[in-house]
Amino acid sequence: MAKEMKLNGKLWCFHKHNHLLVKVVVSILLVGLAFRLLFFRSIGFSPVLETPLLEKTTVPEPPVSVDLVPESTVPVNFPQNGDQLPHGEKCDLLIGDWIPNPSGPAYTNESCHLIENHQNCMKNGRPDSGYLYWRWHPRDCELPQFNAKRFLELMRNKAWALIGDSISRNHVQSILCMLSQNQAIEVYHDEEYKSKRWRFPSYNFTVSVIWSPFLVEAAIFEDINGVSTADVEMHLDKLDKKWTDLYHSFDYMIISTGKWFLKTAIYYENNTALGCHSCQGKNLTELGFEFAYRNALRYVLNFIIASNYKGMIFFRTSTPDHFENGEWFSGGTCKRTEPIKEGEMELKELHKILRDIELAEFEKAATKASEMGVNLKLLDLTYISLLRPDGHPGAYRHFHPFAEDKNAKVILDCLHWCLPGPIDSWNDVLMQMVVDG
Ligand SMILES: *[C@@H]1O[C@H](CO)[C@@H](O)[C@H](O)[C@H]1NC(C)=O
Ligand SMILES: *[C@@H]1O[C@H](CO)[C@@H](O)[C@H](O)[C@H]1NC(C)=O
Ligand SMILES: *[C@@H]1O[C@H](CO)[C@@H](O)[C@H](O)[C@H]1NC(C)=O
Ligand SMILES: *[C@@H]1O[C@H](CO)[C@@H](O)[C@H](O)[C@H]1NC(C)=O
Repeated sequence: MAKEMKLNGKLWCFHKHNHLLVKVVVSILLVGLAFRLLFFRSIGFSPVLETPLLEKTTVPEPPVSVDLVPESTVPVNFPQNGDQLPHGEKCDLLIGDWIPNPSGPAYTNESCHLIENHQNCMKNGRPDSGYLYWRWHPRDCELPQFNAKRFLELMRNKAWALIGDSISRNHVQSILCMLSQNQAIEVYHDEEYKSKRWRFPSYNFTVSVIWSPFLVEAAIFEDINGVSTADVEMHLDKLDKKWTDLYHSFDYMIISTGKWFLKTAIYYENNTALGCHSCQGKNLTELGFEFAYRNALRYVLNFIIASNYKGMIFFRTSTPDHFENGEWFSGGTCKRTEPIKEGEMELKELHKILRDIELAEFEKAATKASEMGVNLKLLDLTYISLLRPDGHPGAYRHFHPFAEDKNAKVILDCLHWCLPGPIDSWNDVLMQMVVDG
């Protein structure tokens, strides 16, 4: 943990100091590789991709600058506003604890056939099962568990879309499994199986997942193995048509983004390169990923505000990973088997940066949205997810990873969520927010 904070601290300082070494180190650490490894669905983790290079990279001490040292002990500011949720009594659904749930998950790897292999922890042989027996409990009110029948009744003739990166895909599988997969018929997929649509014929209800990891338009240059062949080219003033073209056909939407913004990228506005993040040999100004994240989110939210959208739209905050004692590339693990309590873990610095931008931009947008009559809601799942370090596949991203060699070296996934798993409780919250309107 200490090591991890230190590393994050270093990245932070580097970023601020913005020197060449920084760029090299940061790009080695952050460039695509990490995110590509974790965010792509069908990557075989070849040992080659484990890059011993990273282990050899020495991270030099950054120049000491007191005011740049991240305040990693300051608790994250979680919203306390009850008026987000007009609930009769004032209750924030997202402040609370995970409590034991003896009845266990609503589905299993046997009853749901839509679980991606990488998240099918049961099938992959994860030995413990305690992580399945918890549910989210808000401190100040009762949260009913997701009721599939009731939800489907509410959703008759309606269409949902989850728009974002692989966490959105993780989430859509949870929703479909909880709605009893037997009725869901896949009616569409794109060439790469990244965007999909399912239909529940007896309810005329459709659920789509739309792959749009930046929400804004971006050219991503990656080969079939997810290896970058060029920097991402991101347009901060153009939206990704993949979702905007279909926008008005959805009654409910959950949009989110996050970690992809940490990648090496060149930023454009008005088709002119403004600068970049961690790009090398391009003679462009380093603008930092924060610049792009803030601008992209603002652009997306302004579009939504002005869209005259009649449905309900959730802006989901990004959710944390739980690599401990290192990062994904430096031996970090997620071996816990139980939830933690408030205050036991802090958000990592990089995540905190993303989150602060999300909350700031949402807050600005929310005021305007309500003036414009757009039903925009914050789905702030960061905190409840932070308390579930036990919910990730870890090594059980792979089928029985230790069957042949119990010391086998595998890359761990401490970012996505096992299915069934904690992410299922997101739907308890979601359903309540839908009912509350
Ligand atoms: C489900 O997981 C169990 C282990 O928990 C395993 O024995 C079984 O084969 C799995 N079934 C499927 C269909 O993956
Ligand atoms: C199904 O729902 C769509 C809206 O999502 C609606 O336009 C269509 O008329 C519905 N079809 C039937 C048969 O009710
Ligand atoms: C965008 O570029 C065009 C020409 O390339 C210019 O005429 C226009 O003023 C620019 N717009 C903005 C908003 O900078
Ligand atoms: C880098 O860009 C600056 C300003 O845009 C320019 O003056 C300089 O000549 C460029 N250097 C190279 C090596 O292209």
